[in-house]
Amino acid sequence: MATNFSEHTMNRRTFLNRLALLVNGIAAILVGVPVIGFIFAPAVEKAKNKWISIGTLDEFTVGQTKLAEYINPFLVPWDGETAKVPCWVRRIDEQKFQVFAINCAHLGCTVKWFAESELFMCPCHGGVYYADGSRASGPPPRGLFEYKYRVENGHLEVRGGRLPTIQESV
Ligand code: FES
Repeated sequence: MATNFSEHTMNRRTFLNRLALLVNGIAAILVGVPVIGFIFAPAVEKAKNKWISIGTLDEFTVGQTKLAEYINPFLVPWDGETAKVPCWVRRIDEQKFQVFAINCAHLGCTVKWFAESELFMCPCHGGVYYADGSRASGPPPRGLFEYKYRVENGHLEVRGGRLPTIQESV
């Protein structure tokens, strides 16, 4: 009988120890996650604001629109090809550009540039945009989203860490 009592006590003690470990583990996670976020926040902010080259100026012809790509600044080794982010670049004059997200402003399908008609068209629901990215017809509620860009040391650069959205677009 004494053995049963002892086993029962041990079991209860073991259970309470494990419960305490679990509660402490949860508390450590609740405290640790914000601390880790605080430690890594500057690095994330730096990547968000990084200017990334999408090519040298001579790769873009005045009056033409072409596909370009840049490497996602939040790159991790297993990203592979998905780290390359495509965008449409329209060169207006020597220093003036427009850099568009390739995603339709309706539901995000990939829009394609048709140089013959000078229109961007979306294959999903027929959204159409003019060469300057403004909405021409179809369901998109607005024009294409644009990246912030700058010309630096002969390169066209975008803020690739900030995907253009309603908040981030030019
Ligand atoms: Fe482009 Fe709907 S996703 S028109």
